[in-house]
Amino acid sequence: MSSESAGRSTWKSRSGFILAAIGSAVGLGNIWRFSYLTYENGGGAFLIPYLVALFTAGIPLLILEFGIGHERIGSAPLAFRKIGRRWEWLGWWPLMFTMFGIVLYYAVVIAWCIDFIFYSINLSWGDDPEAFFFQSFLNLSSSPAEIGSIQTPILAGLLAVWLITWGISVRGVSRGVELANRIFMPLLLILTLILVFWSVTLEGAMVGIAAYLQPDFTKLADPMVWISAYGQIFFTLSLGFGIMIAYASYMPQNSNMTGSAVITALANSGFSLLSGFGVFAVLGFMSVSRNQPLDEVVRESIGLAFVAYPKAISLIGDAGPLFGMLFFLSLTVAGISSSISIVEAFVSGAEDKFGINRKKLSTVLCFLGFVGGIIFTTNGGLFWLDIVDHFINNYGLVVAGLLECIVVGWFFNLDIIRKHLNKVSNMQLGTWWNWVIKLCLPLFLSVILLNQLIRELFTAYGDYSWASLIGIGWSWIGITFLVSFILAVQPWKTQRHLEKGRGEELLPPV
Ligand code: ALA
Repeated sequence: MSSESAGRSTWKSRSGFILAAIGSAVGLGNIWRFSYLTYENGGGAFLIPYLVALFTAGIPLLILEFGIGHERIGSAPLAFRKIGRRWEWLGWWPLMFTMFGIVLYYAVVIAWCIDFIFYSINLSWGDDPEAFFFQSFLNLSSSPAEIGSIQTPILAGLLAVWLITWGISVRGVSRGVELANRIFMPLLLILTLILVFWSVTLEGAMVGIAAYLQPDFTKLADPMVWISAYGQIFFTLSLGFGIMIAYASYMPQNSNMTGSAVITALANSGFSLLSGFGVFAVLGFMSVSRNQPLDEVVRESIGLAFVAYPKAISLIGDAGPLFGMLFFLSLTVAGISSSISIVEAFVSGAEDKFGINRKKLSTVLCFLGFVGGIIFTTNGGLFWLDIVDHFINNYGLVVAGLLECIVVGWFFNLDIIRKHLNKVSNMQLGTWWNWVIKLCLPLFLSVILLNQLIRELFTAYGDYSWASLIGIGWSWIGITFLVSFILAVQPWKTQRHLEKGRGEELLPPV
């Protein structure tokens, strides 16, 4: 290894790397997003496409991302630059739409959780959690064009999120990200186990769990259910974010990368399935306590955690405040371990290319993250969040994943990555994996994208005006895309792009 790559940050141990990768994967997506998607897509029916998506796309792609980062020894921009000069932008684009897209609103949802830890103490939502959330807390306007003013408690929560993220990120890979995850992951597991055991003992819990586990095979005919499942797998495994590439690049030469990818993916989905028991148990409890059918206890899918849970917490009785605090604390911990990984992916890219000091980078990025998130703390914030989330997930993550497969599969010798992975890992990948990456995934993802795009052209997403969808959603994607090209054509300030990969001699630029 040359002195340059020797100068790159490293994890202290493999377990530290796996915990950090799980920390990135396990986030709001596993509790908040997974539960509302499962609820929205027919409960247990959603688990089948979800598991199919995990095995057909999630695990093969996570192995690919770990392989790219580890073999090319680089953050996403560096790794793609070493794959071919003209592909560097593909490394920047995910960093752009995650650092200047996903994490901006993601941090705002964590801010809501922090506020709700405090609201749980005296059940501030009173008798009507729905009115509390939408009217008092968000003070939601009537459309995204009506931005209105900033909600101070959300802004305060947002400041706390960014201060914590900054405090961890500035300490670097092993003393910051790794150490934080060594504390956060066990803590999160304990909190989740307490909550799940507590929830399943509530009266009526079994009604919810039955709905969670009962597959409704008719739902499988709806393409939207499949699209949501694949979108969720990308989001939950932090695929197409550029994070897993950077994290893998910090591993030393002989590291079992394929095994680490499988452990990370299974742990992450195991966590989602486990929290699903808790969420559905709580829904069952509400349905029995209020004598309402299960599918009527929640009207707002996105508000499941912030409307349905508060309702349930109030019904629990004396122990309700403690239950509420633990629930929102677990969401906060899960969220922060993911937000630090998004910042780290960008820091890693900018450090690789421009050689900027990571402390300065983290500070500037966290400041920009805070300022950029303010729009989502306004009265129109929830609409902005919904639109940006929809576009970045469907046209950012999925497109980035699709392009990753095409570029590495067809414009590079994918066998370099596979053979390297096989050399350093116990689990051996056959040539079938090449075909999954080269053919199956591109076909699958293209069908999903086209289906989604056609639907989008005929029906405006979420009944928003076309002006809002183009002005917010499409522009967000377009601008981050443009900036990634601008970053890619800047000259390299370090020599890292000239180094060889671990697997073989660098191929001449294509
Ligand atoms: N993977 C992270 C989550 O699921 C972003 O929340």
